[in-house]
Amino acid sequence: MLKIWHRAYEIVPEQLKRAAKVERVATAFNTNIDAVVKISGKRLSELAAEVGMKSADLQNPQTKLHTPQDAVRGISKCFINGIAEEWLCDDKEVYTWLEEHLGCKRLQMGGQAGIIANVSAILGVQQVYAHTAAHPKLMAEQFVDADNLCAFAADGTKQKAREVNRDGEEPPIHLIMEFDAGDTLSLDNQIYICPKSNRFIATYDTVNTALKINDGFVKYIDSLGFDFMILSGFHALTAEHGGLQRIAETLPLIKKWKQANPNGIIHLELASTQDLAVRRAILEQLAPVVDSLGLNEREALEAEEIVAPKRDARNNLNAVALLNILLELKQKLQTPRIQLHFYGMYMTLQNKDFPITPEQNKRGMMLAATVAASKAATGNIEIKSNLLQAHGRQIGEKSLQNLCELAAALNNSAVSESGITECGGFDLIAVPTILAEKPLTLVGMGDTISAVSLIGAR
Ligand code: GLC
Repeated sequence: MLKIWHRAYEIVPEQLKRAAKVERVATAFNTNIDAVVKISGKRLSELAAEVGMKSADLQNPQTKLHTPQDAVRGISKCFINGIAEEWLCDDKEVYTWLEEHLGCKRLQMGGQAGIIANVSAILGVQQVYAHTAAHPKLMAEQFVDADNLCAFAADGTKQKAREVNRDGEEPPIHLIMEFDAGDTLSLDNQIYICPKSNRFIATYDTVNTALKINDGFVKYIDSLGFDFMILSGFHALTAEHGGLQRIAETLPLIKKWKQANPNGIIHLELASTQDLAVRRAILEQLAPVVDSLGLNEREALEAEEIVAPKRDARNNLNAVALLNILLELKQKLQTPRIQLHFYGMYMTLQNKDFPITPEQNKRGMMLAATVAASKAATGNIEIKSNLLQAHGRQIGEKSLQNLCELAAALNNSAVSESGITECGGFDLIAVPTILAEKPLTLVGMGDTISAVSLIGAR
């Protein structure tokens, strides 16, 4: 089985060349700057002491940043459980407190639209158009220096994204705190061991959280169209700040784009959405309108909470349980294609008449798995020579085990070697992935997987 999959993965470099044949990719709406910092358990306990927090203070279920204590609680929650969360902050003082207490940060491209724009440009897509709600010089500097990557200047003209300077717009900076598996946090008498490397995001961002739309981008897309439109950023909205209205206002724009581009594919990257009313609106209003949806296992559970709220909590999230959730989402949301990615496997479930064949999906997913492992291993795929750095690396044992479990549950042993079958009246494509031992970075991984799987599916 391992040999068969290694042989299948041999096509990856060829697949990268095919991705460069894609003509136009547009990405919208959230582009921001990520200020990434590593936080140790020791530093976290110092911060907790500074704000007078005890273990018992961690129990509060609320997920917004109103005080420095909330920030410590958020980071601790993610650290203790090895999970990723993003909490919004409306109070600049709280954000500044956190910024001042974290130390040296590394700036990089952030936001699904920004991250996917950069990776699409590096893949060699001929023209990439990135939506930016704010684009001062510091934002421009996060774009890769590539002529095929454009954004829009203050006067609405298309320019190289790296060179746009909408002076006077405030750069939207998100704080990303990454922590390592095995690190320990001690709070009063308790010692917690971090089970999985992950990150906590603190977001103070007045433009993306309001889904401010740039007219230059809209006019250009209206006139020229696209092959792929990758959408995201709705997860940062809140009902309290008019988020439901922004979704309702954006819906006609998406419908118009779809009508004007019958052969183009519109993909929505779900992202973890804390506000339940916003999550419901995304799933009920946007998901049925787009052609494709991308999500990870956590977001799949969050979506299930909305579409099948009575279901008992699932404890064991193995490949079979995740396939069942995927099937449920596919039936309820009516999105033609849904891709779910999790540790060791990507699964795509799509309508039988979807314009991308199962074989094309499989090739795109293997390209994505290689690019994702390269990103984890090198920490930077904004350099083209790093893109396939992980090509030829061993496919994870856990990955093969996932696929075997799936094949057993489907009573179809052939699928463990082909990765393609039918399930619930849909085409199912399941690919085991290459696993990076000690990932250098994780932020933006899911966005990269979804986008490369789709754009590279040729
Ligand atoms: C969210 C965050 C952004 C981060 C991205 C990574 O959009 O707001 O800061 O870069 O997720 O997936």
